[in-house]
Amino acid sequence: MDLEPIVSEAQRAFAAASDAAALENEKARFLGKTGQLTELLKGLGKLDPEARKSEGARINAAKQQIEAALQARRQALNDALLNARLAAEAIDVTLPGRGPSRGSLHPVLTTWERVEQIFRSIGFDVADGPEIETDWFNFTALNSPENHPARSMQDTFYVEGNDDDGKPLLLRTHTSPMQVRYARMNKPPIKVIAPGRTYRVDSDATHSPMFHQVEGLWIAEDISFADLKGVYTDFLRKFFERDDIQVRFRPSYFPFTEPSAEIDMAFESGKNAGKWLEISGSGQVHPSVVRNMGLDPERYIGFAFGSGLERLAMLRYGVQDLRLFYENDLRFLRQFM
Ligand code: DAH
Repeated sequence: MDLEPIVSEAQRAFAAASDAAALENEKARFLGKTGQLTELLKGLGKLDPEARKSEGARINAAKQQIEAALQARRQALNDALLNARLAAEAIDVTLPGRGPSRGSLHPVLTTWERVEQIFRSIGFDVADGPEIETDWFNFTALNSPENHPARSMQDTFYVEGNDDDGKPLLLRTHTSPMQVRYARMNKPPIKVIAPGRTYRVDSDATHSPMFHQVEGLWIAEDISFADLKGVYTDFLRKFFERDDIQVRFRPSYFPFTEPSAEIDMAFESGKNAGKWLEISGSGQVHPSVVRNMGLDPERYIGFAFGSGLERLAMLRYGVQDLRLFYENDLRFLRQFM
């Protein structure tokens, strides 16, 4: 009997088996208990010894060929499985790493730190105070008693709860309450700035319900308006890193200063040359406020100012709309990295 067709049929069947289960099924057809070769081996007993020997050798050779084909196919299927897994789990070690992305300071915070650093360099202390204020510190101590019309210039957010006077607590509308707070805790001469968050019911291209101010206060026995002018002009030159800055004091009104002035500035050159921009409120601290600081207004005198940090940031970076600072748009923020 010709064994060649059986061998080649087995080789073809094994090659066609697409996974281990199919391959083991095919193996049974040839090498299993009732497989084709097994049946032939069983038939050997009926042959005479000579023929049995030669037939047996032939059948065993065929069996070895089929087993070799089976083994080779098993190996090939295993290799394919392993390769597929390796490909699926492949790591491209040449890709750049995905570390934490680097953040940066917000431009308003950069401005805040810059202002602190400049005033520290000219001898000012830096103070910090509460954002939830009492009516007294925010208004009354600053010479804006109840029903004073100046109060309505600053629309206020009230919060739940009352202070010791039974008045509602509020989000501070300016950093000016820090003048009185700081002065009551420190002995003159007093030379301090107090930067921080402030709140008003206000929202448009140049106003946000939350914004930042920096308060300045210098109280001693002989501090005049001339000192205010010198200190503030010096600050602006350092802040904008240019000497061609003009500063103008325009008479104004604030309840807590007398006289009061709005500080305007202009660059002498550049795109906005000669255009006056309002940058700060200021004035000589009102005697009633000095008294509320616990000091004798006959002896102590000085100046105060309150400037918007966003306003300073907008001028320094050329930002046209204040709301950009609060939208958290990375396309905007990345420019300050
Ligand atoms: N607190 C004022 C405001 O928010 C700004 C201000 C004006 C502050 C004059 C001052 C000052 O210290 O002297 O509108």
